[in-house]
Amino acid sequence: MTAERIDGKAFAARLRERVGEMAGQFEQWSGRKAGLAVVLVGEDPASQVYVRSKHKATVAAGMESFEHRLPADTSETDLMALVDQLNRDEAVDGILVQLPLPDHLDEQAVIAAISPNKDVDGFHVTNAGRLAVGQSGFVPCTPLGCIMLLTDRLGDLSGLEAVVIGRSNIVGKPMAQLLLDANATVTIAHSRTKDLPGVVKRADIVVAAVGRAEMVKAEWLKDGATVIDVGINRLPPAEGEEKGRLVGDVDYSGAESVAGAITPVPGGVGPMTIAVLLRNTLVAAYRNAGLDVPESL
Ligand code: GUN
Repeated sequence: MTAERIDGKAFAARLRERVGEMAGQFEQWSGRKAGLAVVLVGEDPASQVYVRSKHKATVAAGMESFEHRLPADTSETDLMALVDQLNRDEAVDGILVQLPLPDHLDEQAVIAAISPNKDVDGFHVTNAGRLAVGQSGFVPCTPLGCIMLLTDRLGDLSGLEAVVIGRSNIVGKPMAQLLLDANATVTIAHSRTKDLPGVVKRADIVVAAVGRAEMVKAEWLKDGATVIDVGINRLPPAEGEEKGRLVGDVDYSGAESVAGAITPVPGGVGPMTIAVLLRNTLVAAYRNAGLDVPESL
């Protein structure tokens, strides 16, 4: 049996199209475009690539993109002043401070300064708390994208065994909360978990978010499991290659013959993150304007 390939790229394209349509409606109803402010401190090459693609996607969805690029030696006071200005700016619905920040800046303090109602990353403790107690807030983009792919494929997740590998605040913990809200039986596994292969073997749903290339092996998986691979790891270049291949946290070629369905890397979870960011920004715009959020978002 060969697993079905879960096409995150196609799903994300459809979501972006819906967001684009709803962004047009928002503009008609409110008289302004929804706006996303992205703050990049320093010149980390990967962050520059992400910020550029966020900008392009925001504009393509018919929303306003405000980019703020600050030098690597920006003081916390200056960064906080910018965040404060964006909190008060009515044209800005969502604020995203690109992580990681340079070492001299306190990430938690900066995130805490963002208004929870504009925190489209869902990183603020208020939004983490809202998710934990089942109130509506903002959910981090990557896990929200994963749950969308899972419910699209499986429908009702009630009673399914889900194993999340990784316990980060950005993916693992919110992922577990979302699965729990969907009535799955959830285990969070991590680097200290004993017998990880045995734990994974129980799972109808595996979400791998550890950042270790091809760590999850085919033999660990239950027959027919649905596998969501959040990892993006670059292998060392093979002979004749300029750059190494991008691979996930799951050994895709092995897993393909055991899993029921699996997300590829690239083209699985990755494209969902930006699509959900646009979705969260538009949700923020509707809420900030006092309008009902459309169901289709
Ligand atoms: N750096 C890598 N991914 C993300 C993300 O989703 N949000 C922010 N703010 N920074 C990131």
